[in-house]
Amino acid sequence: MVALVAVSLLSTRKLNRRFGGIVAVKDVDFSLEQGEIRGIIGPNGAGKTTFVNLLSGCFASDSGQIVFQGVDITGQPAWKRARLGIAYTFQITSIYPGLTVFENVAIGAQVRIRQSSKSKASPDEKPGLEEIVDNCLRLTGLDRSRTRLAAELAYGHQRLLEIAVNLAVDPVLLILDEPTQGLSVDEIEEFTGLLKCIRSNRTLILIDHNLPFVMNLADRVTVMDQGGILAENDPKGIQRDVRVKTAYLGE
Ligand SMILES: Nc1ncnc2c1ncn2[C@@H]1O[C@H](COP(=O)(O)OP(=O)(O)OP(=O)(O)O)[C@@H](O)[C@H]1O
Ligand SMILES: [Mg+2]
Repeated sequence: MVALVAVSLLSTRKLNRRFGGIVAVKDVDFSLEQGEIRGIIGPNGAGKTTFVNLLSGCFASDSGQIVFQGVDITGQPAWKRARLGIAYTFQITSIYPGLTVFENVAIGAQVRIRQSSKSKASPDEKPGLEEIVDNCLRLTGLDRSRTRLAAELAYGHQRLLEIAVNLAVDPVLLILDEPTQGLSVDEIEEFTGLLKCIRSNRTLILIDHNLPFVMNLADRVTVMDQGGILAENDPKGIQRDVRVKTAYLGE
């Protein structure tokens, strides 16, 4: 029998970020394996969004190191990290309301096509724009809305569109910051199915206050509190952890 070897995708060492007198992220040592779904939970202001902003390059770190696929990306700007395969969906939806659903996703597909034009794969193996967009629309269930303006979509569908745009880029690591915020129970169920579907060839970081949603999907869960990592374990271990119950679950 061949032993499965866990491949490290991303790691941070002693990562720090302050905002004036506020310590938002403090000495964070974190590591992520290829293919896992990692949940990040923690109370408001724990530093979750700041931490993933440091990973995506939206914020620069004050000190510490970030390594992605063996490359030190600590000093790299966000656009370079995106090119390496790190995609971040904002806590606030960030789509183009004046463009159609198809056109929004086509923007992501164009980024992917531009990047793959530099790869050595033969043109026959590279999917075209329409094929990429169609796939992403089918996956997210937005195919029936392809000609509608993004602004006309219900909020839950706008969030799905944002995911579709990101999927079109074909990222290695997809970071979702509070994706279920504002979604109905049915939409969350649909969204859970979508994430189960796309996880086969991707690594996901999932930040959310909806604990059943995170616990259902995540392989491992990292709990942040006051800028640091309070605990890390599989979902069952986290639910049993007394420190987590005290700091976050309020028990
Ligand atoms: N741009 C900023 N300027 C100043 N302070 C900031 C900024 N962004 C975050 N902070 C502060 O850093 C700390 C961590 O905030 P962060 O948004 O990372 O927390 P969070 O865990 O994502 O919280 P939430 O669950 O509410 O989204 C908080 O005290 C916050 O007020
Ligand atoms: Mg946040």
